Amino acid sequence: MMNIAVFCSGNGTNLQAIINAVKSRKLKSVKIALVVSDNPGAYALARAKKAGIKTLVVERSQFAAKSDFEKQIIGSLKKENVRLIVLAGFMRIIGEDILREYKGKILNIHPALLPSFKGAHGIKDAFDYGVKATGVTVHLVDDKMDHGPIILQEAIPVKGNDTLESLESRIHKVEHKLYYKAIDLLVKGRIKIRGRKIGII
Ligand code: GAR
Repeated sequence: MMNIAVFCSGNGTNLQAIINAVKSRKLKSVKIALVVSDNPGAYALARAKKAGIKTLVVERSQFAAKSDFEKQIIGSLKKENVRLIVLAGFMRIIGEDILREYKGKILNIHPALLPSFKGAHGIKDAFDYGVKATGVTVHLVDDKMDHGPIILQEAIPVKGNDTLESLESRIHKVEHKLYYKAIDLLVKGRIKIRGRKIGII
């Protein structure tokens, strides 16, 4: 059994998809030991509580330095014996303290085909740019934003009659089926990293 922590700042639909995958045993050998949020109003916290998962709220504004904020989080992760961090709509850049402690053990999902449209508005930025295809990327986190080696990536066509909302909804559907699969690969040790390239065995 691998204890994981899911970090969220908002709605938490990706958290919900992971909770559902664990419950339905599509994702085995995983326990969501903690949900961490930097936003006390995040709906993700209600989802966690409903599923009986421990939560931790840590507000960045309560700490003078980012390092103190991260050390507080690390303390709770250690207490829960967390071995993998899953970022699911966590709208903060992971700093050097968490990166050092969990090197190669942090996943992120981004709603665009990286390296295009990094940042907090990947779906809207791609839509406004007028791309004919966008998608979803799950990658390992390194010291640059939306940058680490890619585990899974799926392209999604943008249709002529798409609105931002209709595109968003298709992207979220793909996110919800892709993320738990990437977690499963990592937990099963099926990921081999060679520089930027990840092989799946
Ligand atoms: C997701 O679409 C996720 O890919 C995105 O935030 C959303 C969170 O939704 N993350 C980023 O843009 C990270 N750069 P959720 O709270 O409903 O899971």
